[in-house]
Amino acid sequence: GIDVDTAAAGPQISDRMYGIFLEDINHAADGGLYAELVQNRSFEYSTADNENYTPMTSWEEVATGNAAGNAKVVNDDGRLHERNRNYLRLALPADGGEYGVVNSGYSTGITVSEGKRYDFSVWAKAPGRGATPLRVRLRDAQGEPLAEPLTLDADERGWARYSGTLTASSSSTTGRLAVTGSGGGSLSLDMVSLFPRDTFKGRENGLREDIAQKIAALDPGFVRFPGGCLVNTGSHEAYEGPDWPRERSYQWKDTVGPVEERAANHNFWGYNQSYGLGYYEYFQFAEDLGAMPLPVVPAMVTGCGENRATDAPELLQRHIQDTLDLIEFANGPADSAWGSLRAEMGHPEPFGLTHVQVGNEENLPDAFFERFAKFRGAIEAEYPGITVIGNSGPASGGTVFERAWELNRQHDVELVDEHYYNSPEWFLSNNERYDSYDREGPKVYLGEFASQGNRFSNALAEAAYMTGLERNADVVEMASYAPLLAAAWDTQWTPDMIWFDNSTTWGSANYEVQRLFSANTGDSVVPSTATGTPGAAGPITGAVGLSTWNTSAEYDDVRVTSAEGETLLSDDFSSGADGWTHITGAGTWAVENGAYVQTETTGENTMVTAGDSGWTDYDLEVTATKREG
Ligand code: AHR
Repeated sequence: GIDVDTAAAGPQISDRMYGIFLEDINHAADGGLYAELVQNRSFEYSTADNENYTPMTSWEEVATGNAAGNAKVVNDDGRLHERNRNYLRLALPADGGEYGVVNSGYSTGITVSEGKRYDFSVWAKAPGRGATPLRVRLRDAQGEPLAEPLTLDADERGWARYSGTLTASSSSTTGRLAVTGSGGGSLSLDMVSLFPRDTFKGRENGLREDIAQKIAALDPGFVRFPGGCLVNTGSHEAYEGPDWPRERSYQWKDTVGPVEERAANHNFWGYNQSYGLGYYEYFQFAEDLGAMPLPVVPAMVTGCGENRATDAPELLQRHIQDTLDLIEFANGPADSAWGSLRAEMGHPEPFGLTHVQVGNEENLPDAFFERFAKFRGAIEAEYPGITVIGNSGPASGGTVFERAWELNRQHDVELVDEHYYNSPEWFLSNNERYDSYDREGPKVYLGEFASQGNRFSNALAEAAYMTGLERNADVVEMASYAPLLAAAWDTQWTPDMIWFDNSTTWGSANYEVQRLFSANTGDSVVPSTATGTPGAAGPITGAVGLSTWNTSAEYDDVRVTSAEGETLLSDDFSSGADGWTHITGAGTWAVENGAYVQTETTGENTMVTAGDSGWTDYDLEVTATKREG
């Protein structure tokens, strides 16, 4: 039984206790949440991003008939913008044929839905000639048209943006977008783009609606961005001059302003980041979610497997100034230097930034705190209302962790970011971790945590653990599961909370736990005591829900049946207590990358696993028999 002491006052739980950590890992942004359908739209991919990349990755040359022409990526003074280095130069056939390039998007191809509108745009210049017709075609991999072609006339203005709308005549996941020209001479192209008209909240340069909706359903209290290891690794240099490094650290100024003026960069996770989803879009997304924005800036000390600290004082100073400028970009008046850029981009009102995190998982605590103190001193001098968050290094214990905590206490840091990815057993046996934390010391932001898997047992272990976070809500102010997003077709890190491919999105069991806690956060903890033996044998009956399961019990022959008695899920654990590996229902399902994926549909989809419809939409009965011994 559970005795609840309604008279006693437990700690308050903040409305922003549970939030999200949004890092472009697993193509979370480019190829995922960022709705751009053209991959490598600006011909910037390079071997610095990934050894298999070239500036023509995802592009092929295309001609009508035997038309002779060529396509060449160039990097010269004729570029569209100083930060946007490469562009494509087409030599066009004079004989009436067309020549150009075709883009195959991400994964299987550009994905479109019948009847939906897609906004095409391109920057082009056709020097020394009259109007040049540009033809835009959307076809599937077999060459079947997916929309009426567009014809746009490029004129002699030099670089200019041309746009039009394609309406999909049928649905496809293998779309190819072709842009061709004719009439001889040369035609230069850059920023070839195709966006669904329907984006989250209808924003231009916006976010994929289905993925954003899944995130919105979490009702997150905050959005930590843009990383992670993404932030503090790579060269610390700034963008300066033509020999700018392609592996520089994430610098927010690279990611704002018109998209065609943003610099692309190597992504720590092995691909290219277009920065199309940049700081403005992150702030906007946080606001659209009703969540607190929480940016992370590099501290000039690497972590994530590297042990390097930048000593150049002028570089450190410039990054500190960049952080002050960031606060002005977010909060400054619309006529301030950086606030005016925010206003030009469409948001004259401040974004209401209150917290900034400096650094992530540094392995060198002493070097880190030396620099952290300088960042914090400068921020507090100019913006005393801003909370500067520190961190405790990459692990949940050990010498770096201990030293980092010592320094956090010495520096009187308000909020300390902890990260850990441990086994479900660790989560179950460490429920009391925060019971003994000093009530007078720095508070904790659990910025990244996950048990190692996307199975039910992992989700349950996390749910159990989160009761310990809440019980200690006077110490643990905020928490976010990580990573948030993963493309099923290119995953650098598992497990993940939300999975997607080009057309669908599905939440893991872990997602359901996060949603349960995050969308139903209480006001305060009500002290309670449990008695009796948890996990007693016998059938469990009730709607499918994590609360009917006891994390300490083992079960055998578990099945889920529909109200009509049809078996929807079953597992006798014959191959070990390995989670729900055998699934029956209207189709064939398999576990891929730790998530359930339907590989074949044999009838109406009545599955209750990690599909769009979620767990609670079904009237189900669960029975389970406790395993002997
Ligand atoms: O969440 C994935 C990575 O884990 C983050 O980038 C990093 O902070 C941690 O090591």
